[in-house]
Amino acid sequence: MDLEKIRKNAKKAIEEASNLEELKKARSDYLGRKGKLKKVFESFKDLTLEEKREIGPKANKLKEELSKMIEDKVDKFSESSSPNIDITKPGERVRGGHLHPLTRLEDEARHIFKSLNFSVVDGPEVESEYYNFDALNIPPGHPARDMWDTFWVNKQENSKKSFLLRTHTSPVQVRYMEEHKPPFQIIVPGRVFRYEATDASHEINFYQLEGLMVGEDVTFTNLKYVIEEFFNKLFSNDIEFRFRPSYFPFTEPSIEVDIKLPDDHPNGGEWLEVMGAGMVNKRVFDAAHYNPDEIQGFAFGAGIDRLAMVKYNIPDTRLFYSSDLRFIKQF
Ligand code: DAH
Repeated sequence: MDLEKIRKNAKKAIEEASNLEELKKARSDYLGRKGKLKKVFESFKDLTLEEKREIGPKANKLKEELSKMIEDKVDKFSESSSPNIDITKPGERVRGGHLHPLTRLEDEARHIFKSLNFSVVDGPEVESEYYNFDALNIPPGHPARDMWDTFWVNKQENSKKSFLLRTHTSPVQVRYMEEHKPPFQIIVPGRVFRYEATDASHEINFYQLEGLMVGEDVTFTNLKYVIEEFFNKLFSNDIEFRFRPSYFPFTEPSIEVDIKLPDDHPNGGEWLEVMGAGMVNKRVFDAAHYNPDEIQGFAFGAGIDRLAMVKYNIPDTRLFYSSDLRFIKQF
């Protein structure tokens, strides 16, 4: 048979194939075991050597050409028909974002303190050495500075021009008192920084919740009541805590508060320190230009991360900053 005629007919059949079935038929009609090209090759035995030399390469070329045309078109059909998509399958649930456990705890704390008539106040994370230390009765060179390992931004002689990453939220006490008259009660939630080795209960940055209440007759009993009220509300009256005498330069007397980790916590039964507190030291009132003979107040600083560890049964504080979705998705 005439090769040119086969080529023409085969091309037409391939071009006109409008689905995979028709294309497969064209393939078997021309390239199959009983196809037209096969017949050409079979007829070779009747040809002279010279004829074979002429037709052989042409027939081979045509075979390649048609195979390629068919393969290209097969690809096209399988791309557009996408046989693997099951349109009856129900859609997958879209996962929305949600609050980080530390944000949730802070929100709850704000809510509780607002119900006790506290206002929420903010302060800078890059703080002067003066507000972070001097104004809180921690003068330069005083050994109490060792209680707070500090990230310095620029260390200068003049402590008002010397900057650091605040090591606690307490500097906001003095900043607030400089601009407001008592009586008032505030909380200051915020991020703080410590230049220290990390372990299961220490991070280089974490969150604190500072509290300050000042008035003519604010007493230690008020402090005790507010802390008890806060913990009982935060933990639905189901928590054991204790007050211990302690020392802070900015309070006198000073206490620390520990919570007993509940039995279902990974470290159940252990006591975890969650807060420092006390009656505001006269020296701090001096720094704020208050007259200590006319007013008194209490202050406290709670560790938000520590409270979250208790509330959500978390054994290691470093998990909060791990960005590990397996951890975060649990809340
Ligand atoms: N600022 C202290 C700290 O970071 C915590 C603290 C203790 C805050 C006693 C207070 C306080 O307001 O009265 O370790």
